[in-house]
Amino acid sequence: MAQEDSIFIGASRKPDDSYQRAEKLLLKYGNRHGLITGATGTGKTVTLQVLAEGFSNAGVPVFCADIKGDLSGIAAPGEAKDFLLKRAEAVKLEPYEFHETPTIFWDLFGEQGHPIRATISEMGPLLLSRLMNLTDAQEGVLNIAFRIADEEGLLLLDLKDLQSMLAHMATRSVELSARYGNVNKASVGAIQRSLLVLEQQGGASFFGEPALRIADLMRTSRDGRGAVNVLAADRLMTNPRLYSTLLLWLLSELFEELPEVGDPEKPRLVFFFDEAHLLFNEAPKALLERVEQVVRLIRSKGVGVYFVTQNPLDVPETVLAQLGNRIQHALRAYTPRETNAVKTAADTFRPNPDFNTFQAITSLGTGEALVSTLEEKGIPSMVQRTLIRPPSSRIGPLTPEERQRVMNASPVAGQYDQMIDRESAFEMLQKRAGQGGVQGDTQKNGGWTLPDFGNGPAPTGGRQSQPRPSNRQTVTEAAIKSVVRSVGSTLGRELVRGILGVLRKQGRSELIAESQSKRDPADR
Ligand SMILES: Nc1ncnc2c1ncn2[C@@H]1O[C@H](COP(=O)(O)OP(=O)(O)OP(=O)(O)O)[C@@H](O)[C@H]1O
Ligand SMILES: [Mg+2]
Repeated sequence: MAQEDSIFIGASRKPDDSYQRAEKLLLKYGNRHGLITGATGTGKTVTLQVLAEGFSNAGVPVFCADIKGDLSGIAAPGEAKDFLLKRAEAVKLEPYEFHETPTIFWDLFGEQGHPIRATISEMGPLLLSRLMNLTDAQEGVLNIAFRIADEEGLLLLDLKDLQSMLAHMATRSVELSARYGNVNKASVGAIQRSLLVLEQQGGASFFGEPALRIADLMRTSRDGRGAVNVLAADRLMTNPRLYSTLLLWLLSELFEELPEVGDPEKPRLVFFFDEAHLLFNEAPKALLERVEQVVRLIRSKGVGVYFVTQNPLDVPETVLAQLGNRIQHALRAYTPRETNAVKTAADTFRPNPDFNTFQAITSLGTGEALVSTLEEKGIPSMVQRTLIRPPSSRIGPLTPEERQRVMNASPVAGQYDQMIDRESAFEMLQKRAGQGGVQGDTQKNGGWTLPDFGNGPAPTGGRQSQPRPSNRQTVTEAAIKSVVRSVGSTLGRELVRGILGVLRKQGRSELIAESQSKRDPADR
């Protein structure tokens, strides 16, 4: 239950296991980030659910990924089951009420939630390179692709825009190499192949318009509760790199879009990064440094980031050091490696003379955790053995019917469901080719054929020979192109792109205005 200034997490216990006191997370330190760790089945998801409920009740919107589908129950009221009532009594949760939280479901594939999309141009070359696991040479070529697109006013919205851009570059490789440095045909071909793979893994639905408007993640319901945005991630997890890049992109969007707020009374948004090891695994050093930077700086934008992972060793030390609120569920310590991990976890806590931290971690029960949050002046509290409170919403998944009902009633229903395909690089290059502006066929180069990204009924006769019916070019659209062009050529890319290479506000406000004008105005 959220009180004025804090979230009730559960009750700590004395050495004899009797009730000690309520453990809370102070909302004013909610943006000082956090960590939820523990072996499988120890209670991490329920703890996340409890925190998400708490933030929502306090009017703070939340974003979280639902890896196994079992977090979706947050959208339904819980039921008075014995073990829950018993737990509520043990932690002195009075009254224990059951209610749902206002939930918005998202799904990259548009099945279990509203589609979540980004444009290629917004995402930028750095994250795309990570997404496709490009080599340095290939990343260099991708950077040039973005630069040329900026300079020539070619909008890169979806994968086929990038494909045709690359094909276009292959035909001009000699000229472009002279201007920008080595545009190696082999590298171009390798990126094209990676794009094909990405397309099959869900990239085709992720890249395009209407792109997610970050404000849609920051809604509050009529009764003042924060929306809980749940990203269906079960299918997404089959491509861990897409999953982690998507979340990283969202983080950097938040970072670039939101103004500074200093130290707010409560966070503006809380972002849970589940399976956080995927973000850091095999990430190149340069990217890690930038992630570390974003996590550090996003705090002053009022965003709290909570990493959820099995083992605290999954998170690099520089990031770990910034996580103020910690909930450590049980870990096993059978092998030397496990023992080492438990030791590291134990060492991050401010010790409690009442018990041995190491031993406590290995002997915690389900739904029980070592908890340390930031107290007055931002000092970490002494670690406490804590029984986590039971959630007010359901533990476990929604039925498909229940999910559909939530989606139908969602404030973004209808806003993102249809993909828009307006004139962008693909169409423009095709036109140029038609006018003889570019040598060769932009669709077939170096033996590569563009994939069919047909959304909706496929045009008869196939794409190869026939340009898609292009959207009318509106006045705004023409204006955007000139903005993109002038931004690209006068300011230079460095000024337009942020820490993680996503488009900055000034470079995209026009783009956003345009895509928003095609949507229903948001009610609340
Ligand atoms: N705070 C709690 N109150 C009541 N029951 C709980 C609590 N935490 C966990 N449980 C019980 O433990 C079960 C497992 O918890 P949970 O699903 O959160 O584990 P997990 O750490 O997320 O596991 P996995 O790693 O497999 O995802 C829950 O289904 C629930 O029955
Ligand atoms: Mg879980």
